[in-house]
Amino acid sequence: MSETPVTTERVGRIGLVAIDNPPVNAASHAVRAGIASAIDALAADDGVDAIALYGVGRTFIAGADIREFGKPPQSPGLTQVCSHIEACAKPVVALIHGTTLGGGLEIALGCHARVALPGTQVGFPEVTLGLIPGAGGTQRAPRLTGIKAALDLITSGKRIDADAALTLGLIDRLGEGPPREAAIKAGEDIVSGALPHRRTGELGVAPDEAALDAKTAEIARKQPNLFAPVRCVEAVAASARLPIADGIALERTLFEACLESPQRAGLVHAFFAERAVAKIPEASATPRPVERIGVIGGGTMGSGIATAFLLAGYSVTMVERDADGLARGQATVEKNLAGAVKRGKLSEARLADINAGAFSGATTVDALAEADLIIEAAFEDMAVKQDLFSQLDKAAKKGAILATNTSYLDVDAIAAITSRPADVIGLHFFSPAHVMRLLEVVVADKTAADVVATGFAVARKLGKVAVRAGVCEGFIGNRILSHYRKAAEYLVMDGASPAEVDRALEDFGFAMGPHAVFDLAGLDIAWAARKRLAATRPAEERYAAYADKLCEAGQFGRKTGRGFYLYGEDVDGRPQNPEALAFIEAEREKAGITPRTFSAEEIVQRYLTAMIAEAARVVEDGTALRPIDVDAVLLFGYGFPRFRGGPLFLADTIGAARLVRRMEDYAQEDPFYWQVPPLLRTLAEEDRTFASLNG
Ligand code: 3HC
Repeated sequence: MSETPVTTERVGRIGLVAIDNPPVNAASHAVRAGIASAIDALAADDGVDAIALYGVGRTFIAGADIREFGKPPQSPGLTQVCSHIEACAKPVVALIHGTTLGGGLEIALGCHARVALPGTQVGFPEVTLGLIPGAGGTQRAPRLTGIKAALDLITSGKRIDADAALTLGLIDRLGEGPPREAAIKAGEDIVSGALPHRRTGELGVAPDEAALDAKTAEIARKQPNLFAPVRCVEAVAASARLPIADGIALERTLFEACLESPQRAGLVHAFFAERAVAKIPEASATPRPVERIGVIGGGTMGSGIATAFLLAGYSVTMVERDADGLARGQATVEKNLAGAVKRGKLSEARLADINAGAFSGATTVDALAEADLIIEAAFEDMAVKQDLFSQLDKAAKKGAILATNTSYLDVDAIAAITSRPADVIGLHFFSPAHVMRLLEVVVADKTAADVVATGFAVARKLGKVAVRAGVCEGFIGNRILSHYRKAAEYLVMDGASPAEVDRALEDFGFAMGPHAVFDLAGLDIAWAARKRLAATRPAEERYAAYADKLCEAGQFGRKTGRGFYLYGEDVDGRPQNPEALAFIEAEREKAGITPRTFSAEEIVQRYLTAMIAEAARVVEDGTALRPIDVDAVLLFGYGFPRFRGGPLFLADTIGAARLVRRMEDYAQEDPFYWQVPPLLRTLAEEDRTFASLNG
């Protein structure tokens, strides 16, 4: 990297502006100031006929510098820089490559022509950060693509490739070669007239009220909680109604409103959480090479895991106990793959590879002798798992990684059964494993550093967010879930209906309330865990038995057609199951409880306070490395609303002292459940935040 992130040079009569701000050329203050003065200098240089901008390294500008959001703005702003480029008397062309996103694309749109190298991706991800494009993007994009296409891009945050951008008119041409050379060529073509140029802001926009109305209705239906998408539509609408300068002024006002919104802070936290979790103590270890995967178990989890690996290009051997089980597992994988082809996630060519041998099956673990990584996804029972691991110890090659997908069990005890505990790790996938992004990498006492690093490397290849977890009952996610699930049960015991609890949490932003999720996952799973732990349940703990009663009646949720709700082809909406309500009523009576009403606010407060309490304990005892890791687990594996940032991010916005007071208040009813975590108390006493522990 050169000392200043923006440098200029003259090649013939072309003035080149190079942007070099690793890793992604974010438009930080120095970059913005550098571009503005480079344009001034080259515009004043009589030896320059055209100016060409390009990015050094892997990408043109990937957007505004997200780390600057929330800090005092520094002039020149990105909006000014884009308008400054557009106003330049000499033609300016942008040569874009890599991921030209957000403010990077806006700078390109401020130029008078755009050339993209093959492989370029463009898009406006601002909405995923709770923002709208704030440097003219909402005004200039519609001038090139029309209202409808611009709306789709800006409200979805999706990236498109260079060919699609060319078709839409966002770019003018495809280039080739290294960025600097391609930029010189683009400049020369501008001078020769081979590449036409014009100011985007001088183009008109055809009104399209129908597209605006349709998008408004879609957002109201699909994203009723979000602030930014509606502002995106308002800004794009202005492009057809106002002159560009006024449109840009309106865009600025809307952008600033988004910048101030708590949703922006939550979404930016989620962006950094996704990246922060990769910073682990084992990051410098070299991952072991992994190509061949063994998956033991062809049930929902095993099939999902096999599908995830096949989709990412690995070869997979599935092992089941017998031919029937194997056939069922393979059929599930085939169904998953067919679905992936339909959704455009898998090419026909890769499917042909898979069918030609990348996916095989066997009925003994001996078939896994050549596997580099073996993931056991068998029945959730310690004896079953230990038996499999002692078989694997004999069958697997030296250096193979032996992973268990257990959701709750002690990975140390599983590792101890083998002669190679350093090679044993937990890789906890979430169902459906080929869809859900979270992977808990559970590090046991003796797990080797390079085995941990391999878990993270594999997760990256699978497109998953890996979070490092220590060994304990349920690791990070299920341990926290086991705790807040009880808060939901106590709310129901004390008077709220399952549907009221669900509605309150759905209004808060969860895609599904907890009872709908329990029904989907199957009530029998938690029932089995409750039975397993019954002997160790503390006498002081309140116990809500209505879910056991439901299970004893064979009602396990969606798969049996009855759970907390009723399911079936002839069932409309989400009616509550009267039998579940009767069991609840009976348990209330047995416990001598007079049901009371809870407001939606109180339901949300109790549920989240319980979640935060166990999340704090998970950080305190080192099961999670940092608070931000816990946030990532809940965001990517448990449907926590992304715009709320995660439970411990939310905790900081509430404040530790207030949370302590809340828990002490609840503890008057139930001192055993509502114990204040010592870490939370310390933060409250020292007036500190969980964020201060993120390092
Ligand atoms: N600002 C600041 N830091 C950024 C950044 C940005 N825009 N984009 C990426 N980074 C950082 C990451 O945090 C990471 O830092 P770390 O190494 O310390 O963890 C590093 O750059 C590398 O990023 P990734 O690990 O994500 O690298 P990838 O190669 O996987 O992905 C990328 C590259 C596609 C550019 C991805 O980083 C990305 O999507 N970045 C965000 C792009 C974006 O949202 N741009 C719009 C910003 S908002 C805007 O422009 C407002 C404007 O309209 C006014």
